Amino acid sequence: MAQRETWTSRIGFIFAAVGSAVGLGNIWSFPFQTAANGGAAFLVVYLLAVFLIGFPTMMVEFVIGRRGEQNPVAAFGKLGYGNWSFAGGLGVLSTLVTLSFYSVVGGWVLSYIVGSATGAYFGDAGAYFGSVASGPTAIAAHGIFMLVTIGIVASGVTDGIERATKFMIPAILVLLVALGAWATTLDGASAGYSYYLSPDFSVIANNFGSIVPPAMGQAFFTLSLGFSVMIAYSSYLGRDDSLPADGGAIVVVNTMVALLAGFVVFPLLFATGGAEGAGGGAGTAFIAIAGAFGQLPAGGAIGFVFFAVLLFAALSSSISLLEVPVSYVTENYGYSRSTTAVAMGLGIALIGVPATFGTSWLGFYNDVVFKLLLPISVFLLAVFVGWVADTEAVDELGRGSTIGESFTTAWLWWVRVVVPLAVVVTLYLGIDALYTGLTNGAYF
Ligand code: PFF
Repeated sequence: MAQRETWTSRIGFIFAAVGSAVGLGNIWSFPFQTAANGGAAFLVVYLLAVFLIGFPTMMVEFVIGRRGEQNPVAAFGKLGYGNWSFAGGLGVLSTLVTLSFYSVVGGWVLSYIVGSATGAYFGDAGAYFGSVASGPTAIAAHGIFMLVTIGIVASGVTDGIERATKFMIPAILVLLVALGAWATTLDGASAGYSYYLSPDFSVIANNFGSIVPPAMGQAFFTLSLGFSVMIAYSSYLGRDDSLPADGGAIVVVNTMVALLAGFVVFPLLFATGGAEGAGGGAGTAFIAIAGAFGQLPAGGAIGFVFFAVLLFAALSSSISLLEVPVSYVTENYGYSRSTTAVAMGLGIALIGVPATFGTSWLGFYNDVVFKLLLPISVFLLAVFVGWVADTEAVDELGRGSTIGESFTTAWLWWVRVVVPLAVVVTLYLGIDALYTGLTNGAYF
């Protein structure tokens, strides 16, 4: 069998993992979820979810991946617990569903880059969204986005993924800082910052049940957890790297990108109205943001940069979503990487076609992943690592790092008790919301 590729360096792994984490979730979904859930109140709960639940869960995926040294399904067998492979398989299933609609939104981003250059959304931002978000334009743009994703994954782990993310991540950071600096000059800047950064704790207390599920879902989604991606990526990792140090760097950079996106989007929205309009759903953020660019001097040029950043972020994530099923099929069935990438990419693109019919399908796909598949996956992985493969997990976490036994023990108990409990609460609230949505016709 061919030798497995590995990252060329530790920094290559960090770039790729940050690339997976930084995506539409940070720059599109994070601001609009924040707008939909009371501004700074949501931000507080989200940050707690990222650091208290997300970071320990990332360590869960890392120990399975590095110890297993296989794709996320085979890894469980290599660890000696082959009957848990379904837990990795569920993550792979989530990548298929997610990439199918992620690529549709990636296609919208392409259309907004074009619209920034031609000024097509300046007059009527809502009409422009309507014309590109569904129908033939949406299908074509979805196809182009998927082809680019396939091209990068077909080129391999080091030549494709590592090389692409080493370029895209620095570009995203530099351009977002520049956009944030520009946003300070807008009339709405101070109103935007105060909405974004001054939490009203009574809002959290009164809306706990409605803020926690999106905050937790967003924390897992933004860190690419529950998709087996971090299992796959850490399987290419050397034995002497420190998992907590690498994970810490990934979480911090990912959080910085989301926060920076807020520093661009909120002043922008408040310069031309307010944030309320942006929080209504998948499309409203595009309409509100593009609408604001359309009204500002040099808005087309700045919008172009904004949507280019969004495209890099989307691509650096979509390649990780395709890498997971591709690595599974190539390793299990021996097909070549390029054939597999093409076949799977096109198949996934077909699954996504209904999401080009209208935003309600897209919302449904999104909610099934956020509210159902992700929490179930994280729950299973936490129980597996906390209660089944606990000895191996603790050993693996300590390997290559200077953290002491008290850290690993505290982590183990956290993963055994706190993470599953938090996820069960989220799952309960999420299923309730999904059920309500299905019965009251919110989707179809
Ligand atoms: N983390 C990505 C984002 O925030 O947009 C989304 C994502 C990518 C989720 C890859 C899962 C994944 F496997």
